[in-house]
This record gives sequence, structure tokens and C-alpha cells, in this order.
Amino acid sequence: MFDEVAPRYDVMNDLLSLGQTRRWRKIVLDAVDAGPGQRVLDLAAGTGTSSEPYADAGVDVVACDFSLGMLRVGKRRRPDIDFIAGDATNLPFADGSFDAVTISFGLRNVTDPRKALAEMLRVTKPGGRLVIAEFSSPVNPLWRTMYVEYLMRALPEIARRASSNPDAYVYLAESIRAWPDQDNLAAWLSEAGWTDVTYRNLSGGIVAVHRAYKPDAAAEAPSGAAAQVRRARRSASR
Ligand SMILES: C[S@@+](CC[C@H](N)C(=O)[O-])C[C@H]1O[C@@H](n2cnc3c(N)ncnc32)[C@H](O)[C@@H]1O
Repeated sequence: MFDEVAPRYDVMNDLLSLGQTRRWRKIVLDAVDAGPGQRVLDLAAGTGTSSEPYADAGVDVVACDFSLGMLRVGKRRRPDIDFIAGDATNLPFADGSFDAVTISFGLRNVTDPRKALAEMLRVTKPGGRLVIAEFSSPVNPLWRTMYVEYLMRALPEIARRASSNPDAYVYLAESIRAWPDQDNLAAWLSEAGWTDVTYRNLSGGIVAVHRAYKPDAAAEAPSGAAAQVRRARRSASR
């Protein structure tokens, strides 16, 4: 499906999100908080639009996806970015390879998202961070009703006119509705072994950005000391 939508993927994103994706991506970049010299995995990176801000900031970003069609479009557009074919549930990277892992609008599409969360934990360095941007549940009931109307009626209609594969956008609407809400996704993260899980709602909860950390070796030390080390490392990386 992603191979087929690849050529018009970014145009459709801007159209269907009414231009909101650019603002959401900036917030994700700030949450990942990576600097030059750090290695970041952008998983389910697609055409690399979610990876570009890291490359532009001098971060060593790896864009990984299993759709060769998406990767091809990305590589053509940004030859300077390292695009790697790989499955989120069986990542082609060694343990502890990355300072941070991020996944934007990808986790919902992975057939076994809990396995992917475990894989992301494995390839992250101890103390490293995870940032997930994903569609979620609007908090205000009226806003939620309007949004569901948009998803189920307007979005497929726009896609019918503008996309070469309108069925992909029916899937988009249905997969968003079937996806766990903010708290349930946070629980999945904790169950996978991530700690200090927090999230922030964007556009009233249409999107949520979850952030979490991989426990570091110091977590084995007596509890107070471990927490102090984690806090100190985090404030040093801000
Ligand atoms: C909606 S796109 C998101 C692309 C990009 N992150 C963005 O923000 O524009 C979702 C991507 O997830 C990828 N994907 C789905 N399941 C995957 C898996 N198991 N492993 C790797 N990539 C996967 C698809 O190929 C697709 O490119």
C-alpha cells in the first residue's frame, strides 16, 4: 500500500492535515532534543520527511522503513540521508545503537506494534529516549465528534479526488479509529519496558506525542542514586 502511495504521499499529507503536519513535526523534533554528534533512528520514516529536520540540524539520522517505494522517493529527494530498509519488528541494528529512536505516524501501521516497541528499546542506548507521534483521541467530546465526521466522510472524499489509491485513505481513517488512546498507548510503552512515560496532546488530541526513556545501567544502583543520575543526564542533554 505504501509503495503505491509513495509518489504523492507528502502532497496528500499536507492536503489532508490542512497543513498541520509541519507544526507537529517541529514539536516532535523538540521532544527528541538531539544535537550534532547524536545518532537518531527515525523508524517507519517513509519518504524521509520526518527525518529531514534532524539531518538539517546536523544530527546523524538513520531513516528506516520496509517500503522500498517510500525509501526510493526519499533517497531521490534527500540523497544525503541514510535510508535503510528494515522491519520495525526485527530491526537490522545492534543493541544500544542509538541515542534516541523516534517514529512518526508509523507505529499504528506496524502489524505487531508491541513487538516494535520492544525492538526500539533494544536498539536504544541505556538512558536513551523514545518519541512517538501518532494520531490519537481528541479530548473534548464536541471536537471528537467533528473530527470523526471529518475522518469518516470528508477525508475519503478528498482522497477519492486527489489520490491514486483512495482505499489507502479509507484504511487511514479506520486505523486511526481503531488505535489505542493516549493512556492506553502509554501503558503499552511501560509494559514494553520504557520508563518515565509522558505525553502531550497536539491539536486537541488529534495527535499525541509520547516520550519515554530506556532504563540505564545506573537503575541497578540503589534507587535514590539511580534517579539522580537519570535526572542529571537528562538535564545535561537539554
Ligand atoms: C504514514 S507513513 C509515515 C512516514 C513518515 N514517518 C512521516 O511522518 O511522514 C507510515 C510508514 O510506516 C511504514 N511501516 C509500516 N509497517 C512497518 C514495519 N513493520 N517496518 C517498517 N516500516 C513500516 C510504511 O512503509 C510507511 O512508510
